[in-house]
Amino acid sequence: MDATNNKVPTTRARLGQFLTLEGIDGAGKSSHLNWAAGYLSDQGIEVVTTREPGGTPLGDQIRSLLLNASMTPATECLLLFAGRAEHLAEVINPALSRGAWVISDRFTDATYAYQCGGRGMVPERIAVLESWTQQGQHPNRTWLFDVPLAVAKQRRSIRNETQGSDRFESEPEPFHQRVQDQYLQRAQAHPERFLLIDARQSIQQIRQQLAMDLDGLLKSYRDRS
Ligand code: TMP
Repeated sequence: MDATNNKVPTTRARLGQFLTLEGIDGAGKSSHLNWAAGYLSDQGIEVVTTREPGGTPLGDQIRSLLLNASMTPATECLLLFAGRAEHLAEVINPALSRGAWVISDRFTDATYAYQCGGRGMVPERIAVLESWTQQGQHPNRTWLFDVPLAVAKQRRSIRNETQGSDRFESEPEPFHQRVQDQYLQRAQAHPERFLLIDARQSIQQIRQQLAMDLDGLLKSYRDRS
């Protein structure tokens, strides 16, 4: 069955590359997204930047529910995948099939980390939804921004002074610890895809590491084309 509802051709055949940024709230990942997009654009690559939850008009409505409305863990997980199905059909798959690179601020690793690690859902349920929704589409590089919980907490509290905290950010520290543990386990289980970034480093040091990684990805991408 075509999970994309025939809005676009089923596009597991990928020409572009699919990069994701992950980490606990306050890890500092999002500030590197536009920089990475600019780095790739300078090399002549078409880049689409996006995020989850969100990425489409419907996805943004779902995001607002997820961040603010009270709901069961099952509802939360199903809403995340509903938004993801839309995101894949409307944004990610069409971009990859025309050869653009997609950089997404979070994707399904976040569901394993937050809904499985944080909320305690069994991973098998997420795996079923993942395979139905994604039809084999997965990121080929994931940057995991890793910081000690205390540093992330401090960064969140500075940000929340102006923005307020959402349902996830206001969870207690053990929740964030479980999310982090789950992320690290996933990075260990998929070393070919994950790049672990020590997010305590300076912005320049982090960008040096990201640039090296992007250079490697670009080289193998061009060698293949
Ligand atoms: P953001 O602040 O990085 O945009 O993400 C919003 C929140 O959504 C963040 O606290 C993590 C949460 N989230 C999940 O719980 N599961 C998911 O699958 C995704 C993509 C995000």
